[in-house]
Amino acid sequence: MNPQVRHLVGLSGDRSRTETMQVQDPYGQISARYKKFAEAEARGQSEQYEYLARGISESPELLAFLTTLPEACQQPNLFLAAVRWIEGVPKDVAGLHDIVRANRSTLRDVMLTRTTQTNEPARCSVLVPALAGLKQPLALIEVGASAGLCLFPDHYAYDYGKLKLAPPIGPATIPPLFRCQITGDPPIPSRLPQITWRRGLDLNPISLDNPDQMRWLEGLVWPGQAQRLSRLQAAIRIVRSDPPEVIKGDLQTDLFELITSVPKGLTPVVFHSAVLNYVSAQSDRDDFASMVQGSGAVWISNEAPSIFPQIHRKVSGKTKAGCFLLSIDGNPVAWTGPHGQTLDWFGG
Ligand SMILES: C[S@@+](CC[C@H](N)C(=O)[O-])C[C@H]1O[C@@H](n2cnc3c(N)ncnc32)[C@H](O)[C@@H]1O
Repeated sequence: MNPQVRHLVGLSGDRSRTETMQVQDPYGQISARYKKFAEAEARGQSEQYEYLARGISESPELLAFLTTLPEACQQPNLFLAAVRWIEGVPKDVAGLHDIVRANRSTLRDVMLTRTTQTNEPARCSVLVPALAGLKQPLALIEVGASAGLCLFPDHYAYDYGKLKLAPPIGPATIPPLFRCQITGDPPIPSRLPQITWRRGLDLNPISLDNPDQMRWLEGLVWPGQAQRLSRLQAAIRIVRSDPPEVIKGDLQTDLFELITSVPKGLTPVVFHSAVLNYVSAQSDRDDFASMVQGSGAVWISNEAPSIFPQIHRKVSGKTKAGCFLLSIDGNPVAWTGPHGQTLDWFGG
């Protein structure tokens, strides 16, 4: 933990003298992480999570609890989801303290055994234009697929403003409609992509038939996002009727074999979104990128811009704060809203 340096005005002796004192602040870094989450991620998305995350950032007691966990498990999203899993969303910060005091060990167990596997099918809104220019039919492989909901861009409906796309509506399943605000000139196709083979790969695939895992998945949608939750549930209904094969494995070691199993005659596409941040070493991310690029598959990446600095450096315009960078074969093409809600296309 980095000590924080505070500048204090000395009040004894020469009153005009400014002394610089080093004060150890054991919670500075984690407090800043929660404050940043409140302001940059939750604000405008979930009033309750913005309020609670700010409360956590100011509570030595809650921060002390969090520092008993490994750094990877101190994530705001994980803590808030674990609290919600055990007792529901607390009304206020005092209630959050009560929950943590009463459930310390259960909370620790949940945070040590579960991960934030948020599966956001609305991210297909930014995948569809990226697939549009490829030779069809496609074989879609998603790494870090979670429950596999992003493997079905051809089964959902989209509203891009002037342009709308929808699959044929079956008697039992109404597709979720994902709205995506666009700027620039993204290649929105007139037809949905033709995907005839799909597979996911995940360290811990989520089963759509497991009620416990479904409750966790739904609990990862933030309070106040009722529409997002109902779209998630609609996507789950569709995908559950014909569940994809999501293989348990690591993107660093098990992807190549999966790519080699793509049937002949299909264009293999490897896609990932909000995944490579879980691979902490830059050299491992770069090895992954080299492997995919050498595999003959089309590589579509939708990640925070810091994940692949070599791709980010190719963007000539300004970085769009809080957005993911969409790239095709290592070439950046758009800034995207992290939940697929916006697409600012600047690619060719
Ligand atoms: C935040 S979720 C994103 C899920 C999905 N891509 C989406 O956009 O909705 C990240 C997923 O990546 C998976 N993951 C993390 N590291 C991985 C690795 N090394 N290999 C395979 N999957 C991984 C996690 O288990 C989790 O399901």
